[in-house]
Amino acid sequence: MTSQSSATRRPSHGNVGSAFAKELFGRPAERKLKATLDKGLDRVEAVLSEQVQYADKVAQVTTTYLLGAGGKRLRPMLVLLSAQLGPKSDSEGVLTAAAATEITHLASLYHDDVMDDATLRRGVTAAHLRWTNSMAILAGDLLFARASQMFSHLGAEAIRLQATVFERLVLGQMHETIGPAEGEDRIDHYLRVLADKTGSLIGAAAEYGVLLSGAPEAYRQPLATFGEGIGTAFQIVDDVIDLSPSSDKTGKLAGTDLRAGVETLPVLLLERRALAGDEKAADLLERIRTRVAGTAPGSQDASFAREESRGSSDPAEVDAIITELREHEVSQETLEAAETHVRHALEALDPLPSGVVKAALQEFADRLINRDF
Ligand code: FPP
Ligand code: MG
Repeated sequence: MTSQSSATRRPSHGNVGSAFAKELFGRPAERKLKATLDKGLDRVEAVLSEQVQYADKVAQVTTTYLLGAGGKRLRPMLVLLSAQLGPKSDSEGVLTAAAATEITHLASLYHDDVMDDATLRRGVTAAHLRWTNSMAILAGDLLFARASQMFSHLGAEAIRLQATVFERLVLGQMHETIGPAEGEDRIDHYLRVLADKTGSLIGAAAEYGVLLSGAPEAYRQPLATFGEGIGTAFQIVDDVIDLSPSSDKTGKLAGTDLRAGVETLPVLLLERRALAGDEKAADLLERIRTRVAGTAPGSQDASFAREESRGSSDPAEVDAIITELREHEVSQETLEAAETHVRHALEALDPLPSGVVKAALQEFADRLINRDF
């Protein structure tokens, strides 16, 4: 569905931020926190609608396109949650940071979809297909500028953090695009890309909550480390979700990344085994590269598909290879890598006092990797 009415529809918290709030807070002692976060998310939604406004009609239509298409609002939720550690948890500054963090994320998605040649985002036609690459990039630029204006009201530290994150988002995307340097371990490179392009903004979300609520400075680094760790884990879990059967809730074709020629962590772990002499792993890897890569709809330019191979023309064969990878030990290893990141993220919370906020952060991390969305 790509009509303007659906694209500009304001989400009524059918979003995961809110779904998290529901599941995190079953016990009576936690209900107050849940109510606070629900109210906060509503206020963030209002700030988002207020802030993404342009006198120019084209600017208005293009920038609100993805905002109105929904989204999980994970980052605003994390800003609000970590802000509960400070005395000014419902200040304007916290709300502004929550909304500006979401706008920064949104800006990056416009750019990302151009670079990935994506067809769908948040259930609607990708912006560059709706308009043009140039317009999608410009809409992302406008949103990024708007987020910068919002952060400019929050003080030098907030601006510095945004600039640092912006640099990491771009470097993450750049390193993903150019691949590992000569001699660089491919798995190390991959994990660094995930930390930069996804972990950095989620880490900043958690850090903004501390910074703008007046929480103790000593909590800043722990929350930043926590956010970055769970953000990286979130992206790693995506690699396994990508292998889920098409009929599942992903709403995506099974093996979208593999078909597009993107070497995700399960494939990199398979390669590591193949290089160590595991012949079965080498055989599966070869079939992924020659039979699966290049089978993405409309995509014939897989980055690692061999020149002579454009993938199998037999959909059943492609599905079987994807299933084989999903059931291979490397997929379990991938999930274990995500769990390791979450474990380190949770350890970073050690300096926080025990209580409802810490428990909710722990639950947030757990839900993020054991998700069904
Ligand atoms: C999604 O990755 C993309 C990102 C998390 C960030 C990409 C960063 C940029 C494009 C830099 C520009 C940034 C700004 C703020 C203008 P993915 O392609 O792995 O995930 P997907 O499945 O959601 O597309
Ligand atoms: Mg993408």
